[in-house]
Amino acid sequence: MDRIRIVGGNTLNGIIPISGAKNAALPLMIASLMTSDTLTLENVPHLADVELLLRILGNHGVDISVNGRRERQSGSYARTIHFTCRTIVDTTAPYDLVSKMRASFWVIGPLLAREGRARVSLPGGCAIGTRPVDLFIDGLRALGASMEIDSGYIEATAPKGGLIGASYTFPKVSVGATHVMMMAAALARGATTIHNAAREPEVVDLANCLNAMGAKISGAGTATLTIEGVTSLSGARHRVLPDRIETGTYAMAVAMTGGNVTLEDTDIALLDTAIEALRRAGAEISPVDGGIRIIGHGDAIRPVDIVTEPFPGFPTDLQAQFMGLMTRARGVAHVTETIFENRFMHVQELARLGAKITLNGQTARIEGVPTLRGAPVMATDLRASVSLVIAGLAAEGETLVNRVYHLDRGFERLEEKLTRCGAIVERISG
Ligand code: EPZ
Repeated sequence: MDRIRIVGGNTLNGIIPISGAKNAALPLMIASLMTSDTLTLENVPHLADVELLLRILGNHGVDISVNGRRERQSGSYARTIHFTCRTIVDTTAPYDLVSKMRASFWVIGPLLAREGRARVSLPGGCAIGTRPVDLFIDGLRALGASMEIDSGYIEATAPKGGLIGASYTFPKVSVGATHVMMMAAALARGATTIHNAAREPEVVDLANCLNAMGAKISGAGTATLTIEGVTSLSGARHRVLPDRIETGTYAMAVAMTGGNVTLEDTDIALLDTAIEALRRAGAEISPVDGGIRIIGHGDAIRPVDIVTEPFPGFPTDLQAQFMGLMTRARGVAHVTETIFENRFMHVQELARLGAKITLNGQTARIEGVPTLRGAPVMATDLRASVSLVIAGLAAEGETLVNRVYHLDRGFERLEEKLTRCGAIVERISG
């Protein structure tokens, strides 16, 4: 099993190209099931989760062609992938694939809308909480589907003539359930209104792509989506938006180690709340042409309290990284997690590096320490893993991050990007 070895202490200086967003690419790829024409996606990141979804889509009958070689664009390797699903050959998404990645459950929306039925295994994914699927079931039922659970699978069936537009209010904000409702309603008969929808930029990206395919969706980015159903969708070409979580992660790394880095191919507007928290912590951040510049001061980190919330609040996917940063603040910071009930597994690993963190329910109290010291640590989920990498970069001596496969799910060429900026980071295979 691969490990990452980090020798901490260097500042980061240079340019880091930001990849296309994993959490936008996944639903966009799934949208290819909704048309018999070709959907072309540019700027698709090369990640384990993307590769797994390519296999899953292949099982359903999607013909996939990846642009011969990766295109080198301003220092990053962006891939263009063409997806063509002439016919859906299988409406079952099996346990052995869906259990590896929660987002693959989302195929339920397109399969149900286009074929009138879907049999999808209950999902898996990062171990960050119970992550139920009740919102998907209630939402699709509102569109007229019958939803039965049988032997670990959801059997979804649309009424004769297809799904029917409806008004539905989510009792809780869910990114995935919003994606799925939007895709299902796009091909339903009549109009659908979704209240309390997720407002994440990835939802807006999916709506933009679906609209380019001929859907009639308005209100994306607000809490109310209006969708006028159409009978079919066509192909389109769409560029995956930049990864705001990768952007925020490297910004936090620079804030922690100190240095001066330009994050390329990204947009400061995607992460206002996190940028604000970083500025309060003492980092200097400014927009530059096509990116963001961040200057970190390492030793002079100010304590800042944050609470995770649905967009536009502070993203749960940056919580672990921000906690990593706060371990070296000059004072006490509080980090409260409100989205997932079990997303503090990095706490005990950060403690191995010398962090002083105590947990009280959903709030962590972090008492900054002047120095972290390298140690062997265990990655537990994707974002927790990268918080350990960040902390390792700022720690004295050597940190070994085990179970690196978590990182490979969501960070493209992490070692290369950091090494180019002066970090000592290497992958040890085997
Ligand atoms: C998406 O997961 C992201 N994944 C997550 O990123 C991210 O942490 C999360 O949104 C929140 O921003 C992808 O986009 C692929 P949710 P999702 O449904 O859609 C509860 C990462 O590290 N809920 O918005 O699965 C749920 O338990 C990943 O890249 C229900 O109760 O998250 C949670 O408490 C991890 N019932 C809350 O809603 C449901 O039916 C928000 O989850 C569905 C969700």
